[in-house]
Amino acid sequence: MTGITGRRKIYDPILINFPKINQAYCYRCPHKLSCNNCNMECAYELEEKIIRIGADNISAFIAEPIIGSAVPGANPPKEYFKIIRGICDKYDILLIIDEVMAGFGRTGKNFGIDHYGVVPDIITAAKGMSCGYAPIGAAIVNEEIFKTIMIKGSGHFVHGHTYGGNPLSAAISDCVLKISKREKYYDNAAKQGKCLMNKLQRLYEYPIVGEVRGKGLMIGIEFVKNQQTKEPFEAKAKLKDKFTQCCFDAGLVVYPGGGSVDGVRGDHVLIAPPINITENEVDELVIRLEKGLKGCVENYMT
Ligand SMILES: Cc1ncc(COP(=O)(O)O)c(C=O)c1O
Repeated sequence: MTGITGRRKIYDPILINFPKINQAYCYRCPHKLSCNNCNMECAYELEEKIIRIGADNISAFIAEPIIGSAVPGANPPKEYFKIIRGICDKYDILLIIDEVMAGFGRTGKNFGIDHYGVVPDIITAAKGMSCGYAPIGAAIVNEEIFKTIMIKGSGHFVHGHTYGGNPLSAAISDCVLKISKREKYYDNAAKQGKCLMNKLQRLYEYPIVGEVRGKGLMIGIEFVKNQQTKEPFEAKAKLKDKFTQCCFDAGLVVYPGGGSVDGVRGDHVLIAPPINITENEVDELVIRLEKGLKGCVENYMT
């Protein structure tokens, strides 16, 4: 379902081309509107699309609450998901929130959608459920969907995987959840996320830093050739790869991505440290990140 061109490209002929709407991406508003005066046009695009396609032909709308790989850290304004929820209800369309990256404390709350005061019908989750120590994923559904399938319906959710219901993964996830609760790691993600975000503001001194954005410990940095015009680097400059290597040399692993501007151009990285990070470790992270950034600017921009 992803809109990431690079990931879709070779599979495109065999993928179903689900209709999409523009993402809420305030730094590069798809409607070229200014931030506080936009009437949330990007959310109302959903209604336009539903009318065009016909509500009877649409079962669900799926979105990440805070974006992970495609536009890391991008988080819509507060009203966005309330409008989306309202449109889904009006046309009897399910709202699926993809929490594979944002869920389980990463953004400082249980789920990313909790920042918006909205309850989805289905949540997809994975990574943070086990802190990545063991593979596990879940589709969490509301009671109505559960009853429709398990009580009124067949009573079976036919969706087999070889390792479905794996007890080791389930036990590890159970343990991760207990420890996270006991140690208040989700609160820690909120607190250290704020601290990290504050410290990262100084990166704007570097001419290639376009935007630093995110929630909790899910922070994206987007790079630009020109801070004023937001002009991106050409894809062939491989800025994101060079930056990632410089960070790696400085002892920091970041998650690079690209294509947010037009499918091809647009360089960004996601910073997503462990949710039990301490303030000293946040400082260390920022030192290494700045070292990587300096190295990248000095080696490749001069
Ligand atoms: C936001 C998001 N959704 C879905 C997926 C796919 O998850 P899975 O590999 O569990 O199918 C990923 C994988 O990275 C992801 O980041």
